[in-house]
Amino acid sequence: MASNAPLFSAVSSSARQLLLLLRCIAFTKKALVRISADGLRFSTEEGSTMESFIFLEKALFTSYTYNPPPPPSSQDDPPAPPTFEINLTSLLETLNIFSLSDPNSAKRPGGYDDFAAHRLNRHAGINAFSNRTLGVTGVCTFSYDGPGTPLSIHMSEAGVTTTCDLTTYEADNAEEIPFHRDDLALKTIMRASSLLDAITELSSMTPASIAIHASPTSSSSSRGNPNANLSLSATGALGSATVDFTTSTSSDTPVLETFHCAGRIRSNYRFAALKAAQRAMAAATKVSVRVDGEGVLSLQFLVEVEGVGSMGGGGGGGALPVAFVDFRVVPLVEGEGEGEGEGSGTERE
Ligand SMILES: *[C@@H]1O[C@H](CO)[C@@H](O)[C@H](O)[C@H]1NC(C)=O
Ligand SMILES: *[C@@H]1O[C@H](CO)[C@@H](O)[C@H](O)[C@H]1NC(C)=O
Ligand SMILES: *[C@@H]1O[C@H](CO)[C@@H](O)[C@H](O)[C@H]1NC(C)=O
Repeated sequence: MASNAPLFSAVSSSARQLLLLLRCIAFTKKALVRISADGLRFSTEEGSTMESFIFLEKALFTSYTYNPPPPPSSQDDPPAPPTFEINLTSLLETLNIFSLSDPNSAKRPGGYDDFAAHRLNRHAGINAFSNRTLGVTGVCTFSYDGPGTPLSIHMSEAGVTTTCDLTTYEADNAEEIPFHRDDLALKTIMRASSLLDAITELSSMTPASIAIHASPTSSSSSRGNPNANLSLSATGALGSATVDFTTSTSSDTPVLETFHCAGRIRSNYRFAALKAAQRAMAAATKVSVRVDGEGVLSLQFLVEVEGVGSMGGGGGGGALPVAFVDFRVVPLVEGEGEGEGEGSGTERE
């Protein structure tokens, strides 16, 4: 490898798609970035009670190069993947400007945006009615050269390159919220829009916390609870509301696609933590909702990604590439619960 090749560089064919994905986790102003040979991982966290992350695998880029420096001697492990913090607000602003050449985003009125979109479109040879498959739409290049150097984002239009250098900061050694996937109290997969509807409905109560109850199928009594179900409930100043999901349905596409629940559980979370995932709920098609034995909630959203070039070819076959957006939320412990007497974290029976 030539020593002047950057440590990392990648080309995205759609700044807009990256923007839509990264917005899913943009509930804080800073993000931690980790670069590896397989992709880019962005994570955000709030205190140590919730975190979110997204992994942009290299297949989502039209080209992706990571040239780790060789270890000092062949006995040594390769160096740890570069990790740094960036200002997520500035990154999103940059991607937003670069995505203005994308036909889908070029329609918004507004002086500067119109002007910028016009300028970019003129150079890229596209207009607001062209398809994203035509011409160049928001192609941008990322590069990073190691600790102390910025994350640079370039966009070229007809020989003019615009570059934004985002300052990178040394990362705190962030601890991840442990999630015990071998010890699950609940696992269900549902349409992300169903969860979004439920959270939107519960929001009207302006609740501080949300309770998740789940119960397995009970075969013993027909009057009791013949169907496994999951309910989300919230109590606020304006009253309380509950949204129930059940596995029983006459439809071919049940709301809960899979449902595994060993025993009744009840767990409370800060409502704001679930609201922070609303953008992910809106962007995703499906969500896997899991609660582990400690009551930690994991929401994994599957987002279909349109309009990105896939490297390594072969990706065709009709299926869109996907990205996963993850949220983890620590349950409220006794005493933190709002308004309800039984405010303990998680109960299993
Ligand atoms: C992050 O960037 C935004 C917009 O570019 C700026 O307003 C804000 O002050 C920056 N935050 C930090 C911590 O640098
Ligand atoms: C854009 O592509 C879609 C299918 O991918 C097609 O249905 C539509 O007619 C195209 N629009 C234009 C303006 O070419
Ligand atoms: C489940 O459904 C039953 C009725 O079928 C209902 O009584 C119960 O409240 C629902 N929720 C839970 C968590 O069991």
